[in-house]
Amino acid sequence: MSWLSEYYGYINLLAIAGAAATVVITAFVAAIYFKNIKSAKKSGELSSDSWDGIKEYKNPLPLGWAVSFLVLCIWAIWYMLAPAGLPFAYPLGAYSQIGEYNEEVAAYNEKFTAQWQNADEATLKEMGESVFIVQCAPCHGLDKSGIGGKAADLTTWGTKESAVSSVVHGSKGLNYPFEEMAPMLGGLISSEDDVRLAVEYLTKYISGAQPAVNVNEAEYNAWLICASCHDTDGAGMGGAAPDLRNYGKSAFITEVLNRGKEGYIGSMPSFNDGRLTDIQKQAVSVYVLSDRQ
Ligand code: HEC
Ligand code: HEC
Repeated sequence: MSWLSEYYGYINLLAIAGAAATVVITAFVAAIYFKNIKSAKKSGELSSDSWDGIKEYKNPLPLGWAVSFLVLCIWAIWYMLAPAGLPFAYPLGAYSQIGEYNEEVAAYNEKFTAQWQNADEATLKEMGESVFIVQCAPCHGLDKSGIGGKAADLTTWGTKESAVSSVVHGSKGLNYPFEEMAPMLGGLISSEDDVRLAVEYLTKYISGAQPAVNVNEAEYNAWLICASCHDTDGAGMGGAAPDLRNYGKSAFITEVLNRGKEGYIGSMPSFNDGRLTDIQKQAVSVYVLSDRQ
């Protein structure tokens, strides 16, 4: 057998011997049962049940079998759940190919992050373009326009017009605690002009970061309706609604990537599953807005 152990190694040889023994024992036991089927006489005690004259022998499970069944059940749970290192436990902490792969990816991502941490705008845009082509273009189209309404039109997302449209038609699916901005027109706001006034205030003083001095009173009053959810400063009440100080900016897009969106147009997956590193998310967000004036 030495040629075998040389070929398979010592442990494998044991496994093969075990498998061979199992096959032999199984065949032997099966043979006994086949013989019994042919020759066994009726014996034993009948149970009192009778189904259309068909009766059943009392055939209780032998105690030893019942005990080993229970013991094996308990061991199965232990085997799967017990931490590595304990006896008879699955070696969860031991080497695995998946583990090695995950470690390599993590190490690579760390290197990537260190290398590109301070990438400038042009580099981010270039990196973002490749990410976009692979991860976003299948839904948003290479030209970012949303493939005829299948996904959001990213050539206009974040503009005044798209803010007006979000308010008029409502917006949902980013999964904020306030859940949904129901269509405002006819609800909290009676005319589209008022929406435009509010958005004017938003883009000037909140996402536009101009100092709010000498503000137009009509714009401010219209904004106060929005402030009931977004807060007067637009920051979103500590995360209950989106932070509109970032509206139309790459930081808002990165937030969308982390959250995913189940909106009125359709559903976009979250990219928070390790598919993209933080820098890649930032890069693709910069790229989306890169051809705005
Ligand atoms: C009832 C609370 C509420 C009010 C009032 C409200 N919003 Fe919102 N707003 C939200 C929530 C919640 C979201 C996130 C919706 C989502 O998940 O897409 C949101 C999202 C937005 C967005 C981002 C849309 C996008 O494309 O992701 C803009 C812009 C916005 N609101 C502007 C406004 C303006 C302007 C007003 C006032 C006219 C206003 N909101 C009033 C709750 C509100
Ligand atoms: C599986 C298809 C799909 C993929 C992949 C996808 N999106 Fe989207 N995206 C959508 C859909 C659909 C919407 C519109 C959701 C809605 O409002 O109903 C959307 C909306 C958006 C919005 C607007 C969110 C808002 O708050 O209005 C942005 C920004 C965006 N996507 C960016 C991206 C970027 C960047 C990528 C690539 C990293 C990407 N998307 C990948 C389908 C996709």
